[in-house]
Amino acid sequence: MNIILLGPPGAGKGTQARVLAENIKLPHISTGDLLRQNVSAGSELGRRAQEFMNKGELVADALVTEMLLERINQDDTRPGFILDGYPRNLAQAKALDSALENKNRSIDIVFYLDASEEVIIQRLSGRLVCSKCGANYHITNMPPKVKMTCDRCGGSLYHRADDNETTIKNRLAVYRKESHPLIQYYEDKGKLKSILADKDPAVVLREMLRLIGDTRDSAKV
Ligand code: AP5
Repeated sequence: MNIILLGPPGAGKGTQARVLAENIKLPHISTGDLLRQNVSAGSELGRRAQEFMNKGELVADALVTEMLLERINQDDTRPGFILDGYPRNLAQAKALDSALENKNRSIDIVFYLDASEEVIIQRLSGRLVCSKCGANYHITNMPPKVKMTCDRCGGSLYHRADDNETTIKNRLAVYRKESHPLIQYYEDKGKLKSILADKDPAVVLREMLRLIGDTRDSAKV
């Protein structure tokens, strides 16, 4: 099953993609995480992407699409994948559709995680990320058991450079202009499922599992 998680910054795409991936055993592919790995590694791609990421602008389609297609051509995606942060505009959605079509594959379901602007700002301004495994926490909503330490792997937690007020506002503006039209694009294809993401993470996960026909009571959050 090939799944996309759509939604504004801070809607919980990364948080949900990670737990959904663990529950349904599909790889979680986040273009934001792949770009940040390139920035940390000091690669040519990272060097070219960093300036855009720091301002909350989109990185050039050609760069991101090449990186994404390389990732989804790896063997572990044969049973399916969960995309988080891609596509981000109509050009990327069309590039993805045609690349999948060439391999006789297609997107099965698109979850649109909808959250209010007030919730988004509260979430992003308190987000903490593990420097080792990338798990997401929040200072008050989802605090780690030990201060600034990841519950899962013991890695140290940090604040993302783009989680400051000016960049958050720009990321929201870019989302409204570039990414919001994707809702209609996937609605027209009959693939969109909207979910209210202002709720507790366990409630959001259970709703996604229900919509893909997984009715186990044992879902892990
Ligand atoms: P990316 O890393 O994708 O950032 P984003 O889309 O802005 O999304 P976020 O990661 O900020 O939010 P999220 O929805 O994943 O929320 P999260 O789960 O962390 O992209 C970063 C940059 O890379 C872009 O600005 C761009 O420059 C570039 N880029 C990436 N992809 C690109 C592409 N395709 N094309 C071009 N450029 C690209 O949750 C947020 C917080 O809320 C956390 O603290 C979490 O603990 C908390 N939280 C989550 N869910 C809940 C809940 N239900 N209740 C309470 N708290 C919650």
